[in-house]
Amino acid sequence: MLIFLLKTILPRNMKVIFKWLLLIGTVCYFIYLVDLIQRQPSAFFIFDQHQSQQQQKYGQNDITQTVVTIDRELFDYLVVHLHDTEYDGVDNYIRFMTVFKGLKPLPGIESLVPGMGPVVNDMSQFQHYPINLVPCPSSSSNSSNQSRSLFIGVISGPGNFERRATIRRTWHVHLNKNQQNKKSNKNALLDLLRFAFVIGQTNDSVVQQQVKDESEKYGDILQINMMDKYVDLSVKLTGLFHWLDTFCSRVDYVLKVDDDVYVNVHNLATVLHSLNVSEPSVYGRQCGGNIPDRSASKWKTGFEHWPWQRFPIYFQGAGVIIAGSAVRPILSAMQVTPYFIWEDMYLIGLCAVKAKIQLRTSDRIFVDMPDNPVDPCFIGDNVMWTTDSADVMNASHFASHNQFYDNKLQPSANVQQCNSSTQPAVEFPFGYAQQN
Ligand SMILES: *[C@@H]1O[C@H](CO)[C@@H](O)[C@H](O)[C@H]1NC(C)=O
Ligand SMILES: *[C@@H]1O[C@H](CO)[C@@H](O)[C@H](O)[C@H]1NC(C)=O
Ligand SMILES: *[C@@H]1O[C@H](CO)[C@@H](O)[C@H](O)[C@H]1NC(C)=O
Ligand SMILES: *[C@@H]1O[C@H](CO)[C@@H](O)[C@H](O)[C@H]1NC(C)=O
Ligand SMILES: *[C@@H]1O[C@H](CO)[C@@H](O)[C@H](O)[C@H]1NC(C)=O
Ligand SMILES: *[C@@H]1O[C@H](CO)[C@@H](O)[C@H](O)[C@H]1NC(C)=O
Repeated sequence: MLIFLLKTILPRNMKVIFKWLLLIGTVCYFIYLVDLIQRQPSAFFIFDQHQSQQQQKYGQNDITQTVVTIDRELFDYLVVHLHDTEYDGVDNYIRFMTVFKGLKPLPGIESLVPGMGPVVNDMSQFQHYPINLVPCPSSSSNSSNQSRSLFIGVISGPGNFERRATIRRTWHVHLNKNQQNKKSNKNALLDLLRFAFVIGQTNDSVVQQQVKDESEKYGDILQINMMDKYVDLSVKLTGLFHWLDTFCSRVDYVLKVDDDVYVNVHNLATVLHSLNVSEPSVYGRQCGGNIPDRSASKWKTGFEHWPWQRFPIYFQGAGVIIAGSAVRPILSAMQVTPYFIWEDMYLIGLCAVKAKIQLRTSDRIFVDMPDNPVDPCFIGDNVMWTTDSADVMNASHFASHNQFYDNKLQPSANVQQCNSSTQPAVEFPFGYAQQN
């Protein structure tokens, strides 16, 4: 109406100027909206047609600036203009994804560590474990100050029976040796409170029964109340953290490994002893690339999961050590941080950063597919590595056994040929990963 009036009143050249002004105004508003989505998505009331046309407010309560009402389609359209912009930190991820996924803060639920922000991930499903473990013994304060208490969680799938069997007959044997030493008060480096394979649920009742039988036989299965799917590993991890917070809260360290990883138990103990036990940090190996893969590969990260140009720093998730004192802060961050498809990014790049946990990195803590996993120099220097078969797992194990437990080889003879250190694994220096 106003435009029509102006059109008839204004002279011709004024009309042209007016059109331009209108266009420039529209463009500026558009840029403003895109910028607002980037910085302050919680400023949006999204008009949701499916919910009786009610407006919903998302995000933190302390936002005082203008609230913009747009509909979902326009929001989604504007979001496209975020693609390949700079990532602006975890709080921005949280605000953006909460609005983008339409998550609603759970009423009346406060984060475990107060002040983290609105809780969007429901933890109540994790109060029930289809297969549970015996809780960790309360911290053995009596144990000598030489040992470090440890929980080991091996992330596994319900159907991975073979991989679990391989681990039980390889590096788990060294854990048992350690525990026997502990019982007989001999040079026990670790105080293993619990060891568990962490699996989700399957809707295949035959597999489920086999898993139950396996649990009865070995007592080392923790089943999380969620369907076991690759893209939901972040949910599974959250279930594990919930268990740790509830049943194993006084442990010094948590080791989280995948079921294709060989753990050099001797070097693990050396690492844990070299760490400051009162430092709430996570320890792992920093990933090299931080550009999301947009191709059609298995590792594809769609723009709907991550619109920004770069990932923050994160660790390779297949072998990570978490200080016990970091478990609760990270779990609390998990309550407020929308799930992400890649659990290593979720755990380290998002939740640990949100919880302000220090990220400590070393290239020797974890190696992805080493060329020669039986080389004594390699075995002497590294803590964990991935294997591509049960044979490689077995070969690594025998090499490690010879190196550290059997005295079949003369360590010094081997070590002299090694490049990196004068003695195997006396020190594992960790650097500080820069956070963003
Ligand atoms: C603590 O250690 C001492 C000596 O090994 C032992 O006699 C005692 O029973 C232990 N106490 C507990 C509570 O385990
Ligand atoms: C344990 O700690 C005490 C005091 O900090 C120290 O005197 C003692 O030597 C330590 N014991 C061992 C076995 O290291
Ligand atoms: C349940 O099993 C069916 C058939 O095996 C499969 O297609 C479906 O994806 C499974 N559902 C879940 C949630 O895993
Ligand atoms: C160990 O960590 C705690 C907590 O961060 C710190 O206060 C203390 O100074 C550290 N000790 C050493 C020896 O670095
Ligand atoms: C593992 O390797 C050892 C030594 O090479 C060999 O004797 C043993 O048969 C292997 N075990 C399996 C299950 O492959
Ligand atoms: C020592 O380093 C050289 C050059 O980096 C490498 O080719 C060689 O394999 C290393 N030797 C051992 C025993 O690691």
